[in-house]
Amino acid sequence: MIKVGVLGAKGRMGSLVGQTVRAADDLELVAEVDVGDSRDPLSGSDVVIDFTSPAAVMDNLQWCVRSGLNMVIGTSGFDDARLAQANDILENLAEQTPQAAVAKPRVLVVPNFSVGAVLMMKFAGQAARFFESAEIVELHHAGKVDAPSGTAARTAGMIAAARSAAGVGVGPDATTTQLEGARGAVVDGVHVHSVRLAGLVAHQEVLLGGHGETLMIRHASLDRASFMPGVLMAVRGVASLPPGLTVGLEGLLGLA
Ligand SMILES: NC(=O)c1ccc[n+]([C@@H]2O[C@H](COP(=O)([O-])OP(=O)(O)OC[C@H]3O[C@@H](n4cnc5c(N)ncnc54)[C@H](O)[C@@H]3O)[C@@H](O)[C@H]2O)c1
Repeated sequence: MIKVGVLGAKGRMGSLVGQTVRAADDLELVAEVDVGDSRDPLSGSDVVIDFTSPAAVMDNLQWCVRSGLNMVIGTSGFDDARLAQANDILENLAEQTPQAAVAKPRVLVVPNFSVGAVLMMKFAGQAARFFESAEIVELHHAGKVDAPSGTAARTAGMIAAARSAAGVGVGPDATTTQLEGARGAVVDGVHVHSVRLAGLVAHQEVLLGGHGETLMIRHASLDRASFMPGVLMAVRGVASLPPGLTVGLEGLLGLA
């Protein structure tokens, strides 16, 4: 049995993770911690999963590393600066605390647990060098506070990296006059258009255009349940990863 602790257990994701872990035969839910609770019950876990907030997650990361615990992080906000900070915590604390030195903790940061979304990004990266043009349309529920979405920004980064490695230049665009924002935001040279609409959950379309043809790669998360197979994969697989920091589910999915 893999013993699982949840941080952010009363939240939308944390409570669903609790139910999902309880329903799995090979997992045991040993601690559910939310704001104001002691973290001590987590020390009996083989893996701690964090769905809290960007403001809380780094302190939780330090606590788990100091305690020598493996961690899966779903909380958003891990840009390059924050990933570097996480690496520092792992390298420095792992040397300083006896529990961490013995256990060599693994921390898996997963920007998107949806297997479909991970595949969409991968396919977009693979296809990008074969087309002159690439743009992204992301569509989310009206309660989302950030635009563009982290998934869209990451997809743009993967498309840009693939195009740059293949020597593909900027896509054709004859626009000379425009209303501000009409061509969307530009992320790593890729135009990203954000739609916010009541009734939607999380959707994204990658549009690729070439010589007399287009390719459209489309993904939709219709429910938070779409994240649970990826959460289970991460919880079961984190101990098999190398010590230190890993980003994304790609390795566990055999897509790296
Ligand atoms: N990686 C993914 O695929 C994915 C998917 C969905 C959501 N998210 C991210 O997960 C995070 C949580 O999302 P949510 O919708 O469940 O939010 P939420 O607000 O419903 O839940 C967060 C919970 O964390 C608790 N919390 C805050 N600080 C804490 C602390 N220091 N210790 C313990 N608990 C604490 C809150 O009280 C709350 O119960 C967000 O950052 C969100 O963007 C990631």
